[in-house]
Amino acid sequence: MSDQHSHQNFETRAIHAGNTADPLTGAVVPPIYQVSTYKQDGVGGLRGGYEYSRSANPTRTALEENLAALEGGRRGLAFASGLAAEDCLLRTLLAPGDHVVIPNDAYGGTFRLFAKVVERWGVDFSVANTSDIDSVRDAVNDRTKLIWVETPSNPLLGITDIEAVAGVARQAGVKLVVDNTFASPYLQQPLALGADVVVHSLTKYMGGHSDVVGGALVTADEALGEELAYHQNAMGAVAGPFDSWIVLRGIKTLAVRMDRHSENATKIVEMLTQHPKVTQVLYPGLPEHPGHEVAAKQMRSFGGMISFRVEGGEAAAVEVCNRAQLFTLGESLGGVESLIEHPGRMTHASVAGSALEVPADLVRLSVGIENVEDLLADLRQALG
Ligand SMILES: Cc1ncc(COP(=O)(O)O)c(C=O)c1O
Repeated sequence: MSDQHSHQNFETRAIHAGNTADPLTGAVVPPIYQVSTYKQDGVGGLRGGYEYSRSANPTRTALEENLAALEGGRRGLAFASGLAAEDCLLRTLLAPGDHVVIPNDAYGGTFRLFAKVVERWGVDFSVANTSDIDSVRDAVNDRTKLIWVETPSNPLLGITDIEAVAGVARQAGVKLVVDNTFASPYLQQPLALGADVVVHSLTKYMGGHSDVVGGALVTADEALGEELAYHQNAMGAVAGPFDSWIVLRGIKTLAVRMDRHSENATKIVEMLTQHPKVTQVLYPGLPEHPGHEVAAKQMRSFGGMISFRVEGGEAAAVEVCNRAQLFTLGESLGGVESLIEHPGRMTHASVAGSALEVPADLVRLSVGIENVEDLLADLRQALG
């Protein structure tokens, strides 16, 4: 993060970091530099430091500066998707023969990347319950290069103590990577708790309007940031100018959106915990959630994601999803509109039969920022 923004509060940084007025026109919002190349004043005479938009583009730079400022990191990098960011990170940090520790609850696509892509290149992994620090410590061996954490996790809303795992990582001399997609930097700041790299699917809360796919990495360290920037250009899965611009726009309202997501989710959890058809509610804001105390310590509030289990197994869970009307049946999360899905058959179908398999009676909600009374009425009718 540049010194210019380090003294500012989150909401101010979200609006101003990277968002300097256009030097040519004074436009208060960075323009969409929809351009691939830049005129040089003589060979090597770059006007603004830009030569080709895969290497760097001013709109993407604006977003990358903003991301670094929001996570309190040294370097932000924006990619074409969350998985593109993860791929770049893994192929930068790992080599054949290396070992990684992954959580027993994570986004299915992240697991698929480890199990079906990275493993083929000679990198093996162990699955740990990252909510249990001993399980993480036991999973580390002398070939381990990184520990991967997702907190809150997708879709079981498990909580990992980032500071405690950072201690294990430091002791073992390995990198700690935290997927901060569910919390967003407004609710949780993994780098300040000792993580080396933060990963984001910008598609979710950062974009916030279900209208863009994007990903990001933010590093605590300048040198690792440089190395990743080199690989970002070498691999090429960069965020385009329009996608960068629309995420930058979404981020300006991140703080107010997250406050409302959390507020609405709290009221929905209250209703679900009392509903006779609901057998379990998974939400870190609940005092009986095993990660509640850690979540209260490391998160500003508990976020907009809720999972719950219903009486009647898979058929009943699918029925609830199908009956919802205001909650749109769809994958993804983090938009202003509420979504409902069945992880076992939708977002997490790729983990079926693995250590990450999710319960068949599970329903996941991404609670939007609509009026909560309308959301409650819809869920009541969907539960029947
Ligand atoms: C927690 C988490 N991380 C990473 C990703 C991957 O991001 P993307 O879909 O933008 O590639 C997702 C997508 O759902 C996710 O939920």
